[in-house]
Amino acid sequence: MSFPITRLRRLRHTPVLRNLVRETILTRDDLVMPLFVCPGTGVNNPISSMPGNSQLSVDLLVEECRRLYGIGVQAVLLFGIPEHKDEHGLVACEHNGIVQQATRALKKALPDLYVIADICNCEYTTHGHCGTIVDGDVDNDLTLLTLAKQSVSLAQEGIDMVAPSDMMDGRVGAIRHALDDYGFYNLPIMAYSAKYASGFYGPFREAAESAPKFGNRATYQMDPANSNEALREVALDIEEGADIVMVKPALSYLDIIQRVKTNFNIPIAAYNVSGEYSMVKAAAANGWIDEKRLVREILTSIKRAGSDIILSYHTQDIVKEL
Ligand code: PBG
Repeated sequence: MSFPITRLRRLRHTPVLRNLVRETILTRDDLVMPLFVCPGTGVNNPISSMPGNSQLSVDLLVEECRRLYGIGVQAVLLFGIPEHKDEHGLVACEHNGIVQQATRALKKALPDLYVIADICNCEYTTHGHCGTIVDGDVDNDLTLLTLAKQSVSLAQEGIDMVAPSDMMDGRVGAIRHALDDYGFYNLPIMAYSAKYASGFYGPFREAAESAPKFGNRATYQMDPANSNEALREVALDIEEGADIVMVKPALSYLDIIQRVKTNFNIPIAAYNVSGEYSMVKAAAANGWIDEKRLVREILTSIKRAGSDIILSYHTQDIVKEL
């Protein structure tokens, strides 16, 4: 039927009617809040490029998580800023590593808060790359060893999920085997499967003090121009045992989320990254946009594209309204 029998405006006439026919509804259950944990006590270092976010020492992280849990945040993703760095990122595998300490404290204080750990080396290596350097480039297979070790170490502290973000080939399989060897066969892996070499990570690298000291991440993260390759990455990660696959960043990659959704039957996560967040905050600070409205629109669009889980720094602001 076409006009005038069909009039699509008919279903837009009242708020109730619009509510009834709405296709995508953002809920608290969709959201994960990323947080940065640093050494010390009583430390709160605001991250200037990401207004509203700070590096927090473990004690303040627990307090912040208590507050977040109280307003409806059910899951957090942890990034660590260690006291010392080393060449291989082994500091991330120690019983007293910063994320290990945070995990112990959080699981004790807030057992029902779901705690996910980002698994990568870039915050822990002196050179800022995501793995072990051999001949000026990240060595894939050597890096698998530290990633597996880091994962097992965090599993032993009670982490609820691991999320490898390094983009080494074979890391999901290596981590799955290591976790299973240690009896953690029920610990899920959320793989950053289609992670692009993106300019949108700029503010995060200030937050996590993880910018590479030479070169860039183009030999391991994906070329923003590629889409077919994302499907290959996702397929391999699923074969290796990923429980959830992630697309990152989110906004410039909604087409990738949609393609993954139509090609695979697996939960999808999308990371609304630091640069995406900071753009909104900067525009809002200038009075150029309505922040609340934009945030809802952005997160809804990521869900509409096919994402089941959204990792976003906006979680802390929007969760009260959901
Ligand atoms: C670590 C990692 C990065 C992000 C998440 N995990 C940075 C990078 O790859 O350089 C980015 C998150 C963000 O920008 O919010 N590899």
